[in-house]
Order: sequence, then structure tokens, then C-alpha cells
Amino acid sequence: MDSAAFHEIDSFFESAPPLKDSAKITDKLNQFIQFDSPSGEVKGRRVVCVTSGGTTVPLEQRCVRYIDNFSSGNRGAASTEYFIKAGYKVIFLYRRGTCQPYCRSLPEDPLLECFELADDFNFQVRESHSEAVKGAIRDHHAAVADGLLLKLPFATIFEYLQMLKIIASAIRTLGPHAMFYLAAAVSDFYVPWKSMVEHKIQSASGPLDMRLMQVPKMLSVLRTEWTPKAFCISFKLETDSKILLEKAIMALKKYKMHAVVANELLTRKEVVTVVTDNGNISVHRDKTWAGSDVEDPLIELLVNRHSTHIKDPST
Ligand code: PMT
Repeated sequence: MDSAAFHEIDSFFESAPPLKDSAKITDKLNQFIQFDSPSGEVKGRRVVCVTSGGTTVPLEQRCVRYIDNFSSGNRGAASTEYFIKAGYKVIFLYRRGTCQPYCRSLPEDPLLECFELADDFNFQVRESHSEAVKGAIRDHHAAVADGLLLKLPFATIFEYLQMLKIIASAIRTLGPHAMFYLAAAVSDFYVPWKSMVEHKIQSASGPLDMRLMQVPKMLSVLRTEWTPKAFCISFKLETDSKILLEKAIMALKKYKMHAVVANELLTRKEVVTVVTDNGNISVHRDKTWAGSDVEDPLIELLVNRHSTHIKDPST
């Protein structure tokens, strides 16, 4: 990375509003990573940071309006479940309000739709939702109790990137056992905090003319400085299939990722292409089973690649 890129990244963090509870987040992360190691020594357990959902860009400091990035969080939530199934500890860095692990089969408003009053004092689970509710509670509680799931919410691009940096610093000691799976849809443009107006922008002032700065890509610095030994997977989303692979290959090379998962908006739940230095692999959802997820074979493939990386981190 050249010095201009470092300068851009430094000025992004310097201009960002300080993250609330950053000391608490660091404590939670350290406890989570150490959990299965009473001696305080980190064992060979694999830890993955799954990022999920879209970041927002506030337009006012006392924010009424913001720009958003599309992502339902389904990819991140599903992937988290498969990583936990494969024995990973997962740090789930997610956009508040997006899809959560083990809750994918619940209706949109689970409290109101899954429960009913039994009498004036008690409520019960509706028969139609009882399997889904039992499964969600059982699997979620088991993952948390076993120290396999830590959920950290964000909303803005400032929170997301500051938390990503804190996570990187917490899992750096794990060397090649650490992994980043960057499925979040991250803003490309933002308004620097110091040049942002404090109060709600007034529509009476006429059309809005606003200059957005480019968000520095953190992928290079994550890969080369923050956690140089970690296994890093980024995502590439496009709506035009003609440019998708070309852009994914560019990202692989430019940011020195170990793999880039390329997906198209319309078919993202059916097929993804894993782009690596050794070629591209198409991964499909198993169409013979209605409840199958493309994340199932995708995570299996990435776990195998991660094993190879642990044996030889120079690959
Ligand atoms: O959540 P779902 O509805 O299930 O959809 C899943 C998904 C389509 C959001 C997901 O599969 C996906 O593709 N996520 C990445 C979307 C994206 O922002 O792509 P991009 O081409 O803009 O960014 C590429 C990579 O650079 C991403 O890994 C991102 O984390 C990273 N990035 C992006 C911008 C930026 N300023 N800094 C970054 O580090």
C-alpha cells in the first residue's frame, strides 16, 4: 500500500465520530476468544468474523436522513449457521434490524405472528410455528452457551469500519486460524463527520447539492497490516453478469484476497462463483431439496480452503 492510501485511511478514522462502548466491545471480544481456554492461552480453535447487512451513511449529525446499501443479511446469517456447524467461533458483525442466524425461517414479526394468548395471563406458541420457534431458540441458545456466537451490531459506515478494526486487532493473535468473511454491503461514498451539518437539512433551501467523499477500501490494510496471517474472503456484487467475474478477479489481485465470492443480485441465492488464484469454482444450491441453501456447499468449500491455508499460510 502506498502512503497516500494510508493517509486516506488515517483521515477516515480521525474524522469518524468516536465509537460508543469501544472498551466494552473489546472486552466482549477478548472474553469470547478466550472462552474455551481457561488457562488464558488461545487454542487452535478457528474464529471467523462474518460481516452482514448494509452500512448507512448519515447526511446529518443528528441524523434524520441517510443513504443505505442494499443487503437483507440473509447471506451473513445463513453462513454463520454453517460456520458454527463446522465448529467455528463466529463474530457476527451485523447491521441492526437485518436477518439473524437461526431466525431465517421465522415470519417477519415473530412475536406477533408466532405467539397467541392462551388466557388473560399466559401466552403460547402457535402450533403452526412451534417447530420453527423451538429450533431457533434451541440452536441460538446452544451456539451462545457453547461460546460459538458473538453478535455485534452496527448501523453507520463509521461504526462498521471502527468495529472491523477492533475485531482485527482482537483476532490477530490467532494467526492463520482467523478468517474474515466480508459479506456486508459497504458504502463507497460518505460525508466526513466534520463537514456534516448538525441539524436536519431544510428542504425550503431548495435542491440538495452535496459532495460525497470516497470511503477508503479497508481490504488492503486488513489483509496486509491488521491481520496479515488471517484467511480473507471478500464479496463482489454486481447486477450486470458481463462484468461480474472481471471485477471479482480485479478485487482478488488488488486487495490480495484469498478468495472473492462473486454474486449477481437476482441469482445470489442459487449460485455464487468462488474466484481464487487457482481458478473459479461455481457453487450451486442443491435444487433437489427445497430448504437447501447455497451457503451450505459454499462454507464447506471455504472451510476446506481455510484448512489448507492453516497448514501453509503462504498459500
Ligand atoms: O444480504 P443478502 O440480501 O443475502 O445479499 C448478500 C449480498 C449480495 C449483499 C452479499 O452476497 C454481497 O455480495 N456482499 C458484498 C456487497 C458489496 O458491497 O460488494 P462491493 O462490490 O461493493 O464490495 C466488494 C467488497 O469490498 C465487499 O466485501 C466489501 O465488504 C468491501 N468494501 C466495499 C466498500 C468499501 N468502501 N470498503 C470495503 O472494504
